[in-house]
Amino acid sequence: MDHFLYHNGVLHAEDVPLSEIAEAVGTPFYCYSTATLSRHFRLFDEALAGMDHLVCYAMKAASNQAILKTLAGLGAGMDVVSGGEYARARAAGVPGERIVFSGVGKTRDEMRMALIGGIRQFNVESEPEMAVLNAVALELGLRAPITIRVNPDVDAKTHAKIATGKSENKFGIPIARAREVYAQAAALPGLEVIGIDVHIGSQLTELAPFRLAYEKVAELTQVLRADGHDIRRLDLGGGLGIPYTRSNEAPPLPTEYGALIREVLGHLGCEIEIEPGRLIAGNAGILVARVIYVKSGEGRDFLILDAAMNDLIRPAMYDAHHDIVPLHEATPGVEQRPYDVVGPVCESGDTFAKGRMLPPLAEGDLVAFRSAGAYGAVMSSEYNTRPLVPEVLVHGRDFAVIRGRPTFDEMINRDTIPEWL
Ligand code: LLP
Repeated sequence: MDHFLYHNGVLHAEDVPLSEIAEAVGTPFYCYSTATLSRHFRLFDEALAGMDHLVCYAMKAASNQAILKTLAGLGAGMDVVSGGEYARARAAGVPGERIVFSGVGKTRDEMRMALIGGIRQFNVESEPEMAVLNAVALELGLRAPITIRVNPDVDAKTHAKIATGKSENKFGIPIARAREVYAQAAALPGLEVIGIDVHIGSQLTELAPFRLAYEKVAELTQVLRADGHDIRRLDLGGGLGIPYTRSNEAPPLPTEYGALIREVLGHLGCEIEIEPGRLIAGNAGILVARVIYVKSGEGRDFLILDAAMNDLIRPAMYDAHHDIVPLHEATPGVEQRPYDVVGPVCESGDTFAKGRMLPPLAEGDLVAFRSAGAYGAVMSSEYNTRPLVPEVLVHGRDFAVIRGRPTFDEMINRDTIPEWL
């Protein structure tokens, strides 16, 4: 469920007509709903009620300061994967003890930054990383709290580019070697082993792969405890999928996911952490664009928008489907027609959809890409020297620009000319 609905024939974000924002901000722009963000966070939080838990939002999905502040205000922790994300989380007021640090390639500088600034735990992904973190912590006279990410060799049944839990993926240590690696970690004085971490992929639309992975984690918890490790925290990663189309069968709900966690892991008495990103931000954001031209091609019509692949890369990168809807609701009964929906960037990959059935559209019309809140703005670039798209946050009848559109001068002036030129 989201808060982007038609009222009086115009698509609204909560109580604000999106045409009003388009007028004020120009197109294209991303727009997020506070009510949807909050609702989705609460769904997870409530799904784990009664268990000691923390929902750490995977801020890679959408990391604007205003979004982080909205979620932090509800009690969210953050899952960060870089020094930049750590800095963003702290700048949004998230205390170190609510930040977990994930990722396969943490650098010494990033480790130092988090150890000094405060960290809930590092999710360590390899033996070399373990050795470096130990050394950095000892240099600082500290002990780094860690979980070790295990790779359970489970097929997440999602797009290959976003599956992470198979043995051929670069993530985590093979679960079969976990006892050996935990023993090594326990012998390092700069590390404090507190738990286990697992994350098998993103946009999972079934619970079965989660169940398989979590059963392996439950078993490993008992084995490691028997080996003398004080396993008290389980980080279960993110990955629960969202409905990208209205017609498709809906993926499992956070309540069902929470019930699964309780059933498979509840008896262990561990603190539970989860790292959802997409399900919190995905359907809480849309991308609004304007039709520049309608061009007739050989046997097809192209809808050329002012948004492009640099603004929303998911269709080009993962063949992802995003519903596209007109901002002004079509007259009931009007016949839809197929369009190839494209952007102005100079490559054929700049195609959002082929043969998409839409009501007839004309130059100047506004359209919205649904489900664009996660992995949308954060994956955008200035390719073709197109300014990064502004972000707007709606709250009831209010809206605010939470990241402005850079001017051409601002973009150009980030470059510097060497003295010999
Ligand atoms: N935790 C870890 C360790 C992760 O690697 C990820 C996502 C998450 C949590 C959050 O997963 P989520 O709940 O959002 O599924 N750019 C791709 C998605 C990449 C996901 C990377 N890792 C896309 O647009 O589909």
